Amino acid sequence: TTVTVSSTASHPIPTTLWGQMFEDISSGDGGLYGELLQNRAFQQVTPGTSAALNAWQAVNRASVSVVADSVKLSNALPNALRVQIPTGVSGQTGVANTGYFGIRVNSAWTYTASFFYRFPTASSFRGNAVISLQTSSSQVLGSATVALSGAQTSWTQVTAKITPTSSPSATDNLFVVSVDGAAASGQTINFGLFSLFPPTFKNRANGMRMDVAEALAEMQPSFFRFPGGNNLEGNSLPSRWQWNNTVGPLTQRPGRAGTWGYINTDGLGLYEYLLWCEDVGMEPIMAVWDGFDLGGSSVAEANLQPYIQQAIDQINFVIGNPTTSAPAAMRSSLGHPAPFKLTHVEIGNEDFIGNAPSTIAYRWNHFASTLRSTFPQLRFLATSNVNSPRLTPQPQEWDLHVYQTPTWFAQNSFMYDDFARDGTLYFEGEYAAISTNPNDIFGSPSDGRLTFPTVQSAVGEAAFMTGLERNSDIVFAASYAPLLNHVANSQWTPNLVSFDSANVYRSTSFYVQKLFSLNRGDQYIPSTLPSRTGTLFWSVVSKQTNTIIIKVVNVATSAQTIAFNLPFSGISTTGTAQVLTGAATASNSPTTPNAVAPASHSIPVGKTFSYSAPANSLSVLTLGIN
Ligand code: AHR
Repeated sequence: TTVTVSSTASHPIPTTLWGQMFEDISSGDGGLYGELLQNRAFQQVTPGTSAALNAWQAVNRASVSVVADSVKLSNALPNALRVQIPTGVSGQTGVANTGYFGIRVNSAWTYTASFFYRFPTASSFRGNAVISLQTSSSQVLGSATVALSGAQTSWTQVTAKITPTSSPSATDNLFVVSVDGAAASGQTINFGLFSLFPPTFKNRANGMRMDVAEALAEMQPSFFRFPGGNNLEGNSLPSRWQWNNTVGPLTQRPGRAGTWGYINTDGLGLYEYLLWCEDVGMEPIMAVWDGFDLGGSSVAEANLQPYIQQAIDQINFVIGNPTTSAPAAMRSSLGHPAPFKLTHVEIGNEDFIGNAPSTIAYRWNHFASTLRSTFPQLRFLATSNVNSPRLTPQPQEWDLHVYQTPTWFAQNSFMYDDFARDGTLYFEGEYAAISTNPNDIFGSPSDGRLTFPTVQSAVGEAAFMTGLERNSDIVFAASYAPLLNHVANSQWTPNLVSFDSANVYRSTSFYVQKLFSLNRGDQYIPSTLPSRTGTLFWSVVSKQTNTIIIKVVNVATSAQTIAFNLPFSGISTTGTAQVLTGAATASNSPTTPNAVAPASHSIPVGKTFSYSAPANSLSVLTLGIN
C-alpha cells in the first residue's frame, strides 16, 4: 500500500477530541471515589434487614442492627448502626466493615477515619473507642483511639488518623470500631456516617483514589462525560440522578438507588466531578436529566417545568453568577466562586432506548428550547436516533453510541465520512469492541463477550479512531465506555481500566486511547484514503509546524507494509514508532496485568519511506520536520 500525503491541512483537530465517559457502574463508589468503607452511612437501606448491614459485621459478640433513629443524624441520613455491647464480654467488641471487596492497608499512608455517634440513652460510660485496621485474622495493622462519652445523646463526629505499621499484600482487611467489652458492658451506641480515606489524588478532601485517578489522568483526556449513561436516568423518577442531592456536606446527601444494582452514596457529587475535571485539565461534558427514566416512564409534557428548572439550577451551579444565582452562590460557598469551564451539556442519555423515542420530541423541544435560550453560550447535545424522530429545535450536536465487534469497528471506520457537513457536530460518547460474536453483542463470555479488552478489540477500535480523526471536522469528541470497573463487582465488561482493592489494570484499549490522546495533532492532513473494506488504516496529523504524526492500524493477522510519500521538506532521517501489538486474544488482566504495552523504537524516515506494520497493531509514527 502506498500513501501520498497532502501538503496542506484540511481542518483543525478539535482540542476536545479524546476524552473519557464516566458513570458509576462499579466505578465511582469503591472505585474512583476514594472512600474505603462500603455502606458507610446506611443510605437508602431498609432498617432491620440483613441487607441494611451490607459490608458490616459484628466483632466479638456485639449485637448490631440498622435502625431508623429517633434522633436523625440529618434528614438525608435517617438511619444509624445500633451496636449493643452484651454483658460478660471480655476484650474489644464492636463492629467491622469489609470495604468495597477489600481494603488496601499501606504503611506509607496515613488514613483519615471518622464516624458520628450518640448514646440513645444517657449513661455514665466514659471510655475509648479503638479505630483499627485489621487483617482477616484480627491482627491489628494500625489503630487510633478516640474518647466516647455516655452523656453524648446528640450526634457528634470524631476523627482520627491511622498510620499502619505494615502493608500486607492481602486486601481482605477490616475497618474495626470497638470498645472494651468489660468497661462498656450493657451499653448501646448508635453510629452514623463512618468514613475511611487514604491520601487522595492531589490531596483533595473527599477526593479520588490515587492509583485509579493517576491511570485516568495518564491518558491526558481532554473531557470527562458524566454522570451517565444509564446512571443519570434512574430506574424510576425519584431515583434519577439529582445534582442537588450530591452537593454540600456528606450529611446532606441521601444517596440513591443507582441504575446498576447498588446504592450510590453520591459522595462523588457534582462539585467533586468538577474539581476532578480541573485537576486533570479536562472539560466537563455534563448531562442533565431529561424526563425519562429507565423504568420506562416519561414525565408528561405539562409537568416538565420543575425538571427543566432543576437542569437550569444544575448548570448554574457550574457556571452561574454567585450574586444572582442561588446554586452558583452555593458553588462559591464551597470554595469556587469562579465558574467552571463548561461548553457542552448533554440532554439525557440514549433517548433511542425502549419507549423513550415516543416522548423525546416534546421532551427535547421543551428542554432544548428553554436551556438554549437561558444559556446561549452553551451547546446542547441530543442523544436519540439522529433524525428519528426529527427534533425541534434542530440539535447542534449529537451523542452517538456503539458497542460492537472488533471487525465491525474496522469495517465502519468510514462511518462519519458519509455524514452531511451541515454544521451539526458529533460526539462518539460511548464505543467499545465488546464481543467477537456479531450475533450476540451483549451476551456472555461463553458466547464471545470479552471480559477484558484484547489486542484484537483494541486494534479494531484504533481502526475506527483513525476515521474519527479524519472526520474531526464534524466529530468533536469521542470516548470509550465504560471507563472503569472493580473486577470483584462488575456490571459490565470489558472496561477501559480495571482495578481491585490494591491494583489498577490498564487494558489494551487503554493504551490505544492513550496513544491517540498523547499523539494528537492540531491539524488533519489528508492522504490517500484507506480501503473501506481493507485491513490497513491510517491517519496523518501535524502538530505545530515541526511534527507529523501518522497512526497506522493493521487489523490483519500478518504484517503489512505501507509506504509513504511526504511532500514536506526538512524531514529528519530518524523517526519514532510507538507500537501496540500482540496475539489477537491477549489481554491485560489481574493474572496478566502487563501482557501488552506499547513499545518504542526508532525508524528510518524521509520524503518516502516504508513501514512494516506488525499483525494486530497500532503504530504511531512520529517524524520531525524543520
Ligand atoms: O456504558 C454502559 C451503558 O451503555 C451506558 O450506561 C449506556 O448509556 C449504554 O447503554
